[in-house]
This record gives sequence, C-alpha cells and structure tokens, in this order.
Amino acid sequence: MKYLIGIDIGTSGTKSVLFNTDGSVVRSSSAEYPLYQPQNGWAEQSPEDWWEATVTTLKAITEDIDAADIAGIGLSGQMHGLVMLDSENSVIRPAIIWCDGRTGAECVEITERIGAERLIELTANPALTGFTASKIMWVKNHEPQNYARCRKILLPKDYIRFRLSGTFAAEMSDAAGMQLLNVRERRWSDEVLDKLGIDRELLADVFEAPYISSYVSDEAAALTGLKAGTPIAGGAGDNAAAAVGTGTVVDGRAFTTIGTSGVVYAHTSQMLLDPCGRIHTFCSAVPGEWHVMGVTQSAGLSLRWFRDTFCEEEKKKAAELGCDPYDIMTSEAEKSPIGCSRLLYLPYLMGERTPHLDSNARGVFFGLSAVHDKKDMIRAVLEGVSFALNDSAGILRGIGAEISDMTLCGGGAASPMWRRMLCDIFGCPVKITVSKEGAALGAAILAGVGVGIWPSVPKACAELVTYREPMSPDPAAGAEYAKYYEIYRSLYPALRESYAKLAEIK
Ligand code: XUL
Repeated sequence: MKYLIGIDIGTSGTKSVLFNTDGSVVRSSSAEYPLYQPQNGWAEQSPEDWWEATVTTLKAITEDIDAADIAGIGLSGQMHGLVMLDSENSVIRPAIIWCDGRTGAECVEITERIGAERLIELTANPALTGFTASKIMWVKNHEPQNYARCRKILLPKDYIRFRLSGTFAAEMSDAAGMQLLNVRERRWSDEVLDKLGIDRELLADVFEAPYISSYVSDEAAALTGLKAGTPIAGGAGDNAAAAVGTGTVVDGRAFTTIGTSGVVYAHTSQMLLDPCGRIHTFCSAVPGEWHVMGVTQSAGLSLRWFRDTFCEEEKKKAAELGCDPYDIMTSEAEKSPIGCSRLLYLPYLMGERTPHLDSNARGVFFGLSAVHDKKDMIRAVLEGVSFALNDSAGILRGIGAEISDMTLCGGGAASPMWRRMLCDIFGCPVKITVSKEGAALGAAILAGVGVGIWPSVPKACAELVTYREPMSPDPAAGAEYAKYYEIYRSLYPALRESYAKLAEIK
C-alpha cells in the first residue's frame, strides 16, 4: 500500500490530495463552489456542490494510479454546518453553515432550556450562533415542516462520508462543535438532547478521529475511481485536522490558520475552559484529548470579499501574468506603511465570535481619509484580520494555554507579508511546515493511523511533519503595531450598541 488520501471540504472549495505514506504529495486537486447569502448575516451552501467537488477532485487524483494502492481515506471539513436528510436520504434544505448568524434567539432559548452554567458543564461552551444546535432549533422554530421530515442530521464531512460509503458516522472533534456532545465524556449528551427535544436517532454514532468508521461503496467507487472497500477514517473538523497536519497534537504546541475563517488553536491534554466562553473548547483528533481555539469569522473571507468587490483590475493583471490576484494585492499592500497611514479595519463581515460573541457586529474601515487608496485598504484588511487573531492569542494566553511554539497555516500563511505581520503582532517566533497541505495532510495521517501504518497520531506527526526555520519578531515593528492595536480594541465597545440598532432595522 503506497498512498493515503486526505479530502478537505472547505468553505471556498474542496481539496483532495493523494499522499505517499512519507507525507509527500503525489497529486492534488481543488474545486470551488458558491456561498449563498439569502439575507444579511445568513450563510448557506449546497451539500450537492460539496459532493460534486469531491467526485471531481477524487477522479483527478486517482487517474493513472492503481486504486488498490490507496491504504485509506481521511476526511476534514468546515465545522458546524447543518445537513438534514429525509427518509430517502435526500437533502431537505441547503446546509446552514458555520458563519451563519441568524440564530441569536435560538441561542437564548438553548441557554434558558439548559441553564447557562449547565450548558458549559456539558458542552464546554456557551450557546453560539455558529454551532449546530442553534441551527437545528432554528429549523424547528421556523421550518417545522422541514424538521418533521428530518431523519438524519450530519456535519459537512460526515455527509461526504455518507455519499462515499452509505454509512452514517460522526466523529469526536467535529461533533464537539454541534453543542450536543458531552465534551468531557466524549459521548452525545442525553440531557442536552432531551432538553432541546432532539431525538438521539437523528444523530449518527460518534467515533474518535482515527477510527475506521466506513468503507467506500461500489457506487462511489464507480464515480470516483476509488476501489470499493477502501477504509475511511473518522477524520476531523478542519481545525483539528490542521492541528494534525501541523503537528499541533501535544501540549505546548499551537497554530494559527487563515482560511475563510481565522483560528488560533492550542492543543491541551487536560480540558481547559474560558469562563467567559470567548474561546471554544472541543475534542481534538488525538483520542482522549482536547483543544482550545479562538475564531475570527471573516479572515480570508475579508480579503476574498475585497478582491471580488474592488479588485477587477488586479484579477485581470493576475490572469495576464499567470499568478494569483492575492499576490498582486499583497504586493500593493506592501507599499503602505504599518498602520496604513492611520487606517484600521474591523473584520466583522459575518458577525464575530472571539472575543465579542456578537452576530450583529459588521465590518468597518475606521479613519478613512482622502489620502488613502486601495493599497492602504488592502493592508488595513490584512492588519485588521491579524489584530482579530491577536485577540484570540491574548485570551488563550490568559487561560493558561501555551502558544509560544506557533505554526502558521492555511491560504493566508502562503503570503510572506502576512506571516511577517502575524509574527510582529503576536511578538513570538512563527514557523510554517514544509508541507503546504495542513488539513488534508492531517486527514490523511488520521487514515494512516486508522489502518495501522502508525501506532498513534503524535507518533505519526513526529515522523511526517517537518518545519521551515522559524521567523523572529521585530520589536520595533511590534511597537508600531501595538499603537494601532490599542485603538482597534477600543472600536468594538464603542460600536456595540450601534451594531444592535442596525440589526433591528428590517
Ligand atoms: C470553527 C469554525 C470555522 C470553520 C470553517 O469553529 O467555525 O473555522 O470550521 O472552516
């Protein structure tokens, strides 16, 4: 057996990667799909789009190889998304995904039904609009006809598992983000399910990340080029999978990822909680262990929004030069100084989780003057996202998580400018892995552990994950950023009430 596959069902697209068992990439393929925003603050995707992208990318990476050489498949996926299936296993409505903020009233309802303290005791987190439980309650409250037809509730990667294998299975790191799991005891919480009136039968059995929970079906084999019977591991939510891909699987290790969302994540063998609920505590992909993470909702999403709204010229230039529009945008941003000549950006396009827990928050350019141009605005977006990540880093430090051994990953970490900025703002050394395939590599490693190539997740990571030389922070740049960060932190409290009023306007 020569190969492992990692499939990452992201928000902007799905990526499938064929790896050698030494972790090197044989072939990789990506396919994008849309994000639907039927109302301000809502976010939906079509599970069929995820499946089509999975089939297309799997076909591309399995072409010309003997599929019998694939030892196993691991799945990674955007967390929290609600997929509902009917008695025919057809999707009932579009998936309500992680960055959807429509469920504020349901969060209040969940907290009232369970009790604020008891909810944290059981699920390790307060009720948040991002988590799946409030999305289920929203469908119950607003689309009772859809809820009545529902026979199975799945997370995005678990839906893809079902399409690949015909098997319903859930997995611990992702299930923790549903707010229906007893996160300490690692089993569905009967108490939460009873109090919310959700039938346990709607949920699949839940397994640890490396566990081989299913096998490729004949039907999926014919569509994808895989061999029927290929084992599929539990896999992990995209952040827990990226933790494996970056070796963040032992105490003392942390990573920051800039994908559509931005996350600062620390591994912890003992459960750690933020008493204010500003950061999430979930199970990790290491059986029996946990992680804590702060999440900013619109990290890469802010830059993508800026590109698609204001950067037609850069897109055209990139097409001519055969490079990525983001490269052109960041090279423009490099011409703007730290602080962007006194311009700040709050990246709250889809509301914010850490540290504000406010789905009404929205984006702001602050300090805009006639002196500013596009380069300053792009740099302000990069700095604003970095400041939001620094908010998470500060809270993690405050609750005792060790985050000085910091790896950067995700699309944003491909930018040397963004890496330097994060290093100077965090004020600690940062490094990147040799492999660029964080979550997909993590998923493949989990499959490798599942089929017995390695005895444990940490042992596999120690063998496969290697790093480039760390970058050290520049204290002078750090001091300059600190002046702007202080102002950045003062802006949300000044706007909180206005955000609430704005959200009330119909
Ligand atoms: C984590 C979260 C996001 C998604 C996006 O809680 O909501 O990071 O997993 O990929």
